[in-house]
Amino acid sequence: MPVLERTDALRGDVKDRSLAEMGHSRIAWAAAYMPVLGQIRERFAREKPLAGVRIGACLHVTTETANLMLALQAGGAEIALCASNPLSTQDDVAAALCEYDIPTYAIKAEDEKTYYRHIESVIATKPHMSMDDGCDLVTTIYTKHNHLLADMIGGCEETTTGVIRLKAMQKDGVLPYPVVAVNNALTKHMFDNRYGTGQSTLDGIIRATNVLLAGHTVVVVGYGWCGRGVASRAAGMGAHVVVTEVDPRKAIEAVMDGYRVMPMNDAAKIGDIFVTVTGNYHVVREEHFRLMKDGALVCNSGHFNDELDLDAIERLSDGRKTAPRAFVEQYEMHDGRKICILAQGRLINLAAGEGHPAAVMDMSFANQGMSAAYLAKNHRNLEKKVYDVPIEIDEEVAQLKLASMGVDIDILSAEQVKYMASWSEGT
Ligand code: ADE
Repeated sequence: MPVLERTDALRGDVKDRSLAEMGHSRIAWAAAYMPVLGQIRERFAREKPLAGVRIGACLHVTTETANLMLALQAGGAEIALCASNPLSTQDDVAAALCEYDIPTYAIKAEDEKTYYRHIESVIATKPHMSMDDGCDLVTTIYTKHNHLLADMIGGCEETTTGVIRLKAMQKDGVLPYPVVAVNNALTKHMFDNRYGTGQSTLDGIIRATNVLLAGHTVVVVGYGWCGRGVASRAAGMGAHVVVTEVDPRKAIEAVMDGYRVMPMNDAAKIGDIFVTVTGNYHVVREEHFRLMKDGALVCNSGHFNDELDLDAIERLSDGRKTAPRAFVEQYEMHDGRKICILAQGRLINLAAGEGHPAAVMDMSFANQGMSAAYLAKNHRNLEKKVYDVPIEIDEEVAQLKLASMGVDIDILSAEQVKYMASWSEGT
C-alpha cells in the first residue's frame, strides 16, 4: 500500500477531529480485506482516469467508504463526502478523511436539518459526478441546483432503493444525466446484498440487544437478495425463520429454501424478532404492532426507516417509551405489552454495527471505482438513462476477487465456445 500523504486542509464538518488517529488505524485494517479495490487504487494512481473530475459523494461514511474515497483520489478526483444516512457515520473515519483532503460533512446521529445541510455542502463544491447511496444527491441537485447540470457528466448509484428512484426519474423524463446502477452488477448485489446484509444485520441486532437467536422466531419481511441473506444467516444461528412476501415467485423460493411463509398478520403473532428488508413503505404498521407478543424486537435493514410505521407505535403507546440500551427504544402499549424498536427504524446494520464487512464491500466499491472511470471516459456517448455496470467490469471484479482468494477456475475450450454459439447441434 502506498504511504498516504496527510494534509492540513481540514475542511468538512465532523464530530471530533481528535478521533482521526483511530480512523486512520481502522481504515488501514479494512484496506487489508479489500485487495481488489487496492489493485484498482494502484492502477488509478498510475493512469489517473479521474484527473480533473470533481466527485460529490453521499455514502455511508465507513472504513470501507474511506478506502473507496482514497482510490478515487489516487485516480485524480477531487472529492467531497457527506453521509447517506443520519445514523450510519463512523465519526473517527469522518475525522480521518478530512486529514486526507477529502472534506467530509457527516456526524453520527445528525438531525435531518444537518443531514441536508451536509448534502448542500457537498453540492457547493460543484461536482461533475455524483456518487450516491439512495439517490439523495441526484434528487437534491435536480430539484434545487439545476444550474449545475450543464457541467455534470454522470453519476453512480450504490443501492437498490436508489436505483428504483432513478428509474422513476427516468420514467418521468427528469433524470438529469446518465447514472450507472452499481447495485445491478452481479458482483455487487449477489454478495453485498445477500452475504453483507445477512451478516451485518444480525451483527447489528446482536450488538444492540445481545439477544439469543437460537430457538427464537425471526420474521424476515421481504425475500429479495437482502432478505435471502438475513434468512439464511438467522437459520444458521438456530432461529426459526418465517418469511413474508408479496411477490408469489419469491414466496415459492422462500418455501423451497425451507422457511415458513405466511401473511404479516399471522407472522406478527409469532415473531420474536422482525427485520424489514423490502425497500417499501409501512410494511410493519399499526395492525401488526397490535398483534405482536410482549417483548418483540422490531428493526429495519432497508435503506429508509419508513418501512416501519413509527407514528403508529408512538400512537399505540401515547409516546411512553424508555431507552434501556443504546439503539433500543422500548414502547409500552396500553395493554401493558412492550415492543422495542431498534435504531429508530434506521438501517440496523450500519446504525448499531459497522455495516457490511470490508471483504464484501471490496467488490461493491471496485464496481463503484471502475464505473466512475467508465463514466469519465464515456459520458459523451451516454444518454440521460440508468445504465447497468458494463459486463466487462463486473467480470473483471469477479476475476480479481477470485485471484485474491487463490481460487482458480476452468476456461472454455475453442470447441465449447463454438458449441455455445451454434444452433445446429441437436438430439
Ligand atoms: N453499506 C452497507 N455496508 C456498508 C459499509 N460497510 N460501507 C459503506 N456502505 C455500506
